[in-house]
Parts: sequence; structure tokens; C-alpha cells
Amino acid sequence: MKVAVAGATGSVGCEMMNVLEKRDFPVSEILLLASERSSGKKLKFKGEEIEVKTLKEDSFKGCDIALFSAGKKVSLEFARYATSSGCLVIDNSSAFRMDKDIPLVIPEINQGDIALNKGIIANPNCTTIIMCLPLWPIHKRFRAKRVVVATYQAASGAGMRAMNELLDETKAVLLGESYERKIFPFQYAFNLFPHNSPMMDNGYCEEENKMVFETRKIFHEENFNITATCVRVPVLRAHSEAINIELEEEASVDEIYEVLKEAPGVKILEDRPNNRWPMPIDASCEDEVFVGRIRKDPTQRNSFWLWIVGDQLLKGAALNAVQIAEYVIK
Ligand SMILES: NC(=O)c1ccc[n+]([C@@H]2O[C@H](COP(=O)([O-])OP(=O)(O)OC[C@H]3O[C@@H](n4cnc5c(N)ncnc54)[C@H](OP(=O)(O)O)[C@@H]3O)[C@@H](O)[C@H]2O)c1
Repeated sequence: MKVAVAGATGSVGCEMMNVLEKRDFPVSEILLLASERSSGKKLKFKGEEIEVKTLKEDSFKGCDIALFSAGKKVSLEFARYATSSGCLVIDNSSAFRMDKDIPLVIPEINQGDIALNKGIIANPNCTTIIMCLPLWPIHKRFRAKRVVVATYQAASGAGMRAMNELLDETKAVLLGESYERKIFPFQYAFNLFPHNSPMMDNGYCEEENKMVFETRKIFHEENFNITATCVRVPVLRAHSEAINIELEEEASVDEIYEVLKEAPGVKILEDRPNNRWPMPIDASCEDEVFVGRIRKDPTQRNSFWLWIVGDQLLKGAALNAVQIAEYVIK
């Protein structure tokens, strides 16, 4: 396969290359694309230094698969050049996720939708993927009646520059120096704030709406009952989420653990006697979504809390995209 990575110098793009290499994806040639700013820069793939090229209309000639992670605007402008060259696009941005003709896929959940693609497959939002992976098997077994989720999202979810801004701002605060932010609107070091995505007419921010609408599309359930609060926390990598699920079918904590033990891509991580539960540093650079603290909510019938943590650059982005590509080849 000749594979193009559009956005190769970004935080997701770098992980794309790592994942392709680690999973031994059958790459005969890799094409690394980014903006003019990165032209000529060299990145390593399978021990070889590869020059980054500027993304152009004719970049995709002869390519089989293009993994896009250069933002919505770039996807909207360039994906069609890739598809018209006969190249399959797997897109990490929000450009096509809610387009009814474009499959939105988490392979562990709706791999069947891959076959419906007409040249573009969308990768869901990172926070959505991390939540849906453990939620889906619980929903399948006990039917979720209502889901309430609160997220604790890492800086790298907003890209490489955001991660660097958190590091630099933290140093500046510790040294008592002033710091001029370029990415985040508020002090991020030693602080947190509700998600900085645009505020929508329904009173929720865009990220919260993505979690709701994308989950419904992936589950094929228009009325799936879910509501979210998204928050940025000063963590470099891996998103955490607290989920409260009310179930229709009678369930116990032990039964939910049993379901999750068997769930693909999910790993239980906890040490109850030592009050030790999944943390972002556990999930960073790991493929699995970690789950723990499953407990009954005494305020409502048949309801449970879950604490989940996942690397949003891997399962939340690059890994999910490469898994989709693997299914396409299969
Ligand atoms: N970060 C996450 O956890 C995450 C998770 C899921 C999905 N996503 C989505 O993935 C996409 C990339 O996110 P990221 O975090 O990797 O961002 P990032 O670190 O800021 O990287 C952006 C990449 O896009 C390239 N780019 C920007 N403008 C371009 C242009 N006009 N033409 C060609 N390339 C251009 C950049 O190239 P230069 O280096 O040359 O500027 C860079 O390679 C976004 O749509 C984001 O929403 C991100």
C-alpha cells in the first residue's frame, strides 16, 4: 500500500507513523505531507529519514490510502483530490463525521459500516471513541437508558502547539514570569476550564455536542440518551472521563466487570485496597482504554459509575484510523 499521511508533523500525524510501524501495516511507500512551513523537514519511518512534502492537489497520485489529520479546513479542501485519485481517505477531523453518506467508525463497534464508504471514512472525536469503547458492550448487554458523562481532557487533544503551550506556561508560572498564550484562552497551568470549543445555540460547547451526536451515529440509535460536560485539565496526554449509566436490564457491579473483561480494546486497571485507579500516565502511549471504579449509584435505580482513561492520540485518533485501514484491507 502506498500510504499518505496528511498532517504528518502534527501530534496525531506522528502517532499515525508510529502505529503503522508498530502494527506492521503493509506500507510499500509512505508520503508525509504537511503545510509549506514543514516542507523539507525529515521524519523517521521504519528507521528511514523521509522528507515532508507540502500538501497539494496532486499529492495523492498513486496513493491507496490517505490518513488525514491536518484539521477540518484542510480535509474539506483536499480530501476530494485524494478520492478523485482513487485513494481512500480516513479522516481524523470533524469535516465529514456527521455527513449521512460517510461512515463514522470505531471498528470494535460498527466495523460493518466500513463497507458503505464511498471513498471517505470518518474517525470519531477522540473523547467519543474513548467513551464508546467500554460503553458499547455494556449497552449491548444491559441497554443503557441514560448516560451522563464528564470529561477531563488533556492538552495534546488540541495539538502539538497546545501541549507545548502548557509546558511553557507551567515553567513561566513556576518562575513567576508573565506568559503570552497563543492557543488556549485562559491560564491552563495549575488551572482547568470548561472545554474551549465554540459555544453552540443549545448551551453546550461543540465538543459536548460531538459526543452526543457522534455516539448516536456510531450506535445507530438516533435517540440514544446521553449528555456531556467537557473540561480541559492541565494534563499533557490521555483523556479521563467519569460516566454515569442508567441501565434498563437489571445488572450488578460484578456483571459489568465481567462484560468489560471481555470487551476488545478495554482493560480493567485497579487496586482497590490501595485506592489505585486508572490515571492519564497509565494510559499514555497505550492502545487500550483503561476502566476502573465501577460502582453502584445509590441515588437512582440500576445506575452505575465508571471511570475511564484513554490515550486520545492513539485509540482516540491514530490507532482507530489505522485499525479502520486494516479492516479495509481485510
Ligand atoms: N490531538 C488529538 O488528540 C486529536 C484526536 C482526534 C482527532 N484530532 C484531529 O486531528 C487533526 C490534527 O490534530 P493534531 O492534534 O495532530 O494537530 P497539530 O498537532 O496542530 O497538527 C496539525 C497538522 O496539520 C498540518 N497542517 C496544518 N495546516 C495545514 C495546511 N494548510 N496544509 C497542510 N497541512 C497542514 C500541520 O502541518 P505543519 O506542521 O506544517 O503546520 C500539522 O502536521 C485535527 O482535525 C484534530 O481535530 C486530534
